[in-house]
Amino acid sequence: MSRVRLSFLVFLFSFSLSPAQWTSLGNLDSSRVEGNALLVFSTGRVLTIRLLSPDLVRIRLSRIGETETPATPAVIKSSWAPVRFDMSNSPSSVDIRTEKGTIRVAKNPVRVSFLDRSGAVISRDDNKGMAWDGKEVRVWKEMPQGESYFGFGEKSGRLNKRETHLTMWNTDIPAYKADTDPLYESIPFFYGIRSGKAYGIFFDNSYRSSFDMGKESDTRYSFGAAGGELNYYFFFGPSPKDILSRFTELVGRMPLPPLWSLGYQQCRWSYTPDKRVREIARNFRDRRIPADVIYLDIDYMEGYRIFTWNNERFPDPAGMVKDLSKDGFRIAVIVDPGIKHDPSYAAFQSGSAGDHFLKYPDGKLFIGKVWPGECAFPDFSSSAARSWWGAQFKVLTDAGVRGWWNDMNEPSVFDVPTKTVDLSVIHNDDGRMTTHEKNHNTYGMLMTQATYDGVRRLVPNERPFVLTRASYAGGQRYSAAWTGDNVASWEHLQMAVPMCLNLSISGQPFVGSDIGGFIGYPSGELFARWLQLGVFTPLMRAHSVINERNKEPWEFGPEIEAVNRTTIELRYRLLPYIYNTMHQASQTGIPAMRPLVFEYPEDPESYWNETEFMFGDQILVAPVLWEGATKRSLRLPEGSWYDFWTGKKYKGATRVTVDAAIDRIPLFVRAGAVIPMQPVVQYVGEKPLDSLTFVVFPGKQSTSLYYEDDGLSFAYEKGAYMKRSVVYKEDGASREVVLGKAEGTFKPGQRSVIVKMVDVASKPASVMKGSARLSVISKDEVGKIEGWYFDEVNHEVFVSFSDSRSEISVSIR
Ligand code: GLC
Repeated sequence: MSRVRLSFLVFLFSFSLSPAQWTSLGNLDSSRVEGNALLVFSTGRVLTIRLLSPDLVRIRLSRIGETETPATPAVIKSSWAPVRFDMSNSPSSVDIRTEKGTIRVAKNPVRVSFLDRSGAVISRDDNKGMAWDGKEVRVWKEMPQGESYFGFGEKSGRLNKRETHLTMWNTDIPAYKADTDPLYESIPFFYGIRSGKAYGIFFDNSYRSSFDMGKESDTRYSFGAAGGELNYYFFFGPSPKDILSRFTELVGRMPLPPLWSLGYQQCRWSYTPDKRVREIARNFRDRRIPADVIYLDIDYMEGYRIFTWNNERFPDPAGMVKDLSKDGFRIAVIVDPGIKHDPSYAAFQSGSAGDHFLKYPDGKLFIGKVWPGECAFPDFSSSAARSWWGAQFKVLTDAGVRGWWNDMNEPSVFDVPTKTVDLSVIHNDDGRMTTHEKNHNTYGMLMTQATYDGVRRLVPNERPFVLTRASYAGGQRYSAAWTGDNVASWEHLQMAVPMCLNLSISGQPFVGSDIGGFIGYPSGELFARWLQLGVFTPLMRAHSVINERNKEPWEFGPEIEAVNRTTIELRYRLLPYIYNTMHQASQTGIPAMRPLVFEYPEDPESYWNETEFMFGDQILVAPVLWEGATKRSLRLPEGSWYDFWTGKKYKGATRVTVDAAIDRIPLFVRAGAVIPMQPVVQYVGEKPLDSLTFVVFPGKQSTSLYYEDDGLSFAYEKGAYMKRSVVYKEDGASREVVLGKAEGTFKPGQRSVIVKMVDVASKPASVMKGSARLSVISKDEVGKIEGWYFDEVNHEVFVSFSDSRSEISVSIR
């Protein structure tokens, strides 16, 4: 063994031999109540237990005398309604009781437990409890048998994170694997779920943190960070939806995205020059494959200088963007944080003049290498730097660009062992002047904030679309997220599902993976299957690395091209439903993509199911993730379900196997669901939504909401939307759909509505609209005149009429 290797081993050994010297909280010295908080003094520290709502409590361990400030930019809600609670003090503990549960602080030593209303323990500190070692902080909690863990933002590997060790440290890691950790994005938030009941924990600490979910021990788990305070929020639940809704109330929700960003998006590194961009656009339109967005990767710039155009490749960007917009395309461009260290470059000049770049404690600029070579890095934690950054977009917004792809913002730095900015570098951090160690994990999120706010100021009447690789909890307020540099392999397609699901339930609903795989080349089959999954990821974007063969949807031969066309058409047909699920996410935080355990926590079979998911309230998606598969076996949750494709009805709580030929992604719809759909369009806004079809899958009575607006502006914030309830009910032989009176000032214009009911055994005796009996029309007249048509082959009834704002009831008997 070489001496170098030996000394390396000795180094490793001594490292592992010096175990952390944890000091755990000891006995309670004193305690007092201040407003909605209990302050507990022990071991020279103060533990603050602050009630924010009956089901949400903040736990903070700090040095005595340190003021309570937001630990990171994640939390945006600071004022909460007073919480009613009572408190009891016994020799062994202090109990704080709200209508949702009890927080019990044991006194000797100080340990915290959370109990439900019946007094049963939901979660409790292990005997090590809360502790510190130098700058490090950590808490250990008991890990009950059968408790599973979900969330944690962007993590590869399986959905259920029990028995894993996870680190939060935003990292540029191309071609990551199932066991690669950490990745690009950090959301230190998770759910513990057992026996149908969930609780949530958000550890709001942006330092490098780690979560050991039973990898080190099978009776306890722990989380902690390399610095900062032991500061976490506990959500009582017990429903995962309530937890997520409360969590996103705390850290903010995704604003309603522009409708076009929910269309199909085409990317590659790089479409260049302008001629190639036009050629791609032409191909989509000529081949009748719908698409909304084309991306420009780093080669549109002059020597990778952000906020510049390469004049040779793109001599007339505004002209190009304008021509493409006539054809219904929006252009998105990549924007990296690194500003080339070049005294003759305008952004470097103004950034230096305004003192907006990161510096070492001695005032020297931090310089790191990225695509342009040596770069300075904006300090996005300073509001002045954020405004400066935002203003730079003018050269791009003036050219008509409307999509903002924020990349490399972990931030990634080439050729240094840490792969990022030096940890000693100072950030403004709202005047606190803290190190990169603290600001690393929030860097990407603050970049997206600067981008979103800046673009919104420049184009005030349009909703910005920002896409990011790195972020932190709450990042959904500014940006969608994609799962970074994946690989064109079946394993990566499989991984995309749990990754997007865990991200979704961590507060970020606008997610997707690079369709087809970024690195490497997919078979036509793999691409087609990935695209099908993409219909049911809110971000539907295909991408490719440089120096790889073309991967556009038509590049895999005519058969796969036809399949891909139908797949993308399905996305556009479902757009009203998809937009409604995104609207719901913007209002409640409940995402489009939901693991079955999130929707059915009582179902023990859901805990390990990571190949199926719910998309919105009504659709169960069982994507095909295996090469050569022509069938798909899946589990239907409880209730009754319809096969979306065949209309066949199934009883749930069982496994079924269905056909899954290359052109079919298995989909099931909850019985009782009403799904809004539209005809195929080539892009958003090609024509007005006409006809609007409500597809009814008969079953239990149901109520849903139908939401629509202009899809582009902020006018909806002032009431310019159209909202109506959609109720389905059955009574004996009669089935009725009631579209409630329209609310809001948005007027969709004259159009027809079709109520399409599936699973109608025989020709109805009568079809009524309100009290009027409708007459029979032909198939071709559906969507054109009032009346109804019965398709006796497929057992479907189509009821056609013109839309109005008043209540409309349609009944069939
Ligand atoms: C990074 C991004 C990738 C992009 C490339 C070039 O690898 O993750 O999506 O294409 O940089 O900009």
